[in-house]
Amino acid sequence: GNIVVLVSGNGSNLQALIDAATTGEGLGNGRIAAVISSQADAFALERARQADITTQVVEHKQHTDRRQYDQALKHAIDEYQPDLIVLAGFMRILTPEFVMHYMGRLLNIHPSLLPKYPGLNTHQQVLDAGDDTHGCSVHFVTETLDGGPVIAQASLPVEHDDDPEQLKQRVHTLEHLLYPIVVRWFMLGRLQMEGNQALFDGIEL
Ligand code: GRF
Repeated sequence: GNIVVLVSGNGSNLQALIDAATTGEGLGNGRIAAVISSQADAFALERARQADITTQVVEHKQHTDRRQYDQALKHAIDEYQPDLIVLAGFMRILTPEFVMHYMGRLLNIHPSLLPKYPGLNTHQQVLDAGDDTHGCSVHFVTETLDGGPVIAQASLPVEHDDDPEQLKQRVHTLEHLLYPIVVRWFMLGRLQMEGNQALFDGIEL
């Protein structure tokens, strides 16, 4: 099955998926058919090229509004007839029409233990709140920003002397472990979205 990965930046999660695809159990029957970036200068594109994966850039500049951009993006994605679309540091809010088109086959990873801290600056928020645990979540994407049904989470303890940068690094390491596992589950047909619920082998998560 084809996977399309959407990126905007560094692409360390993309790298984790690329590495997972070529080792051990791989990504189930999945292969990364293309990497599409919203930014021409994203380092993620370099990572994809290194791995001989087709790349494409769909930049906002060339489109008048969000709706038009998302249509162009959808057009680009559907060329690859993907079974799964993976957001990996894709820094754009998607229109409801776009999300609807891919409902149940669109995944995101977010650097917090959702439903805590949707949006940006999660690490600082964790520190400000004095939380003793933090982590990351993989979820199905719905119209609500970082609000779709959670599939899996990984957590770590917050140390009393952590700063946001250190926390971010450690959460990233967790992300790189978690995302390939969830993508593999999806490609093996073990994950579904039903209503606002994620299912694993038919059982509610
Ligand atoms: C990650 O922290 C991810 O959780 C968030 O964006 C960041 C992407 O990092 N959605 P990278 O580009 O994969 O290195």
